[in-house]
Amino acid sequence: MRVIAGSASARLGGALADLIGSPPVRTEIRQFPDGEVYLRLDEAVAGEDVAVVQTTYPNDRLIELFLLQEAARAGGARSVVAVVPYFAYSRQDVAFRPGEVVSARAIAELVSLKADRVITVDPHKEHVLGFFRVPAAGVTAVPALAERLRVEGVDIVLAPDKGALDRARLAAKHLGVDHDYLEKTRVSGTEVRVAPKSLDVRGKRVAIVDDIISTGGTIATAAGELRAQGASRVVAACTHGLFLNEAAARLRKAGCDAVIASDTIEGLASVVSAASAVASALR
Ligand code: R5P
Repeated sequence: MRVIAGSASARLGGALADLIGSPPVRTEIRQFPDGEVYLRLDEAVAGEDVAVVQTTYPNDRLIELFLLQEAARAGGARSVVAVVPYFAYSRQDVAFRPGEVVSARAIAELVSLKADRVITVDPHKEHVLGFFRVPAAGVTAVPALAERLRVEGVDIVLAPDKGALDRARLAAKHLGVDHDYLEKTRVSGTEVRVAPKSLDVRGKRVAIVDDIISTGGTIATAAGELRAQGASRVVAACTHGLFLNEAAARLRKAGCDAVIASDTIEGLASVVSAASAVASALR
């Protein structure tokens, strides 16, 4: 198997190629002055099983993924697996109002056009996998995040809401610690309290595990409250760290001692790799 890494996933693609034991396919990827993508494979892939690795954020990376898939197909690859570490648009997975686009389905269909199989990491909702027109699997970076949380020292793992409890449970199981979810209670017309459903965080080292940190608003609110309730340490962890609008600084200001993310979106907080989870699925 050969790995073709797009420019949004060079690090993860490289780590995956190392695990597979074959260097990434050399590529030439650049932009024309008008922003269009120029792309060329610098090696033959005829007859190979190819994994094209590319996160679809920001938007132009989606075009790059599509062209990489086309390059593998046109180059005679035996099969093409689209590895989409962070599947952008996955949060628009339902039409709430008439006329609203289910963007997750539209983008999934586009990716499916030139893939035999799709692998993504910690999809926002499992049902999104059903939008692809080819077999699609979700793998999880949570065990890898949990290993890093072990280094941080954590007594309790919290989900930011009940819907995210499975992720917290999985991380807690790896660590052998308790887990819970954060519940919002309206205290007055203007005041909302956020606290663990049943656990007491006083004097405890707490991790909040979410799939995505976008603006950081969700975890910043929780971190501030947990601090006020006596948590001795708060670590924010996510698979997909978008960290928009100075989110990392916002989280620290809110009381987070550490902010960690995986490399599905490559950035300063990407201290954990999803590569081994993806490699297992590829095998
Ligand atoms: C929501 O459904 C997601 O799981 C995350 O909780 C959300 O995307 C986080 O967004 P933000 O960092 O902007 O609060």
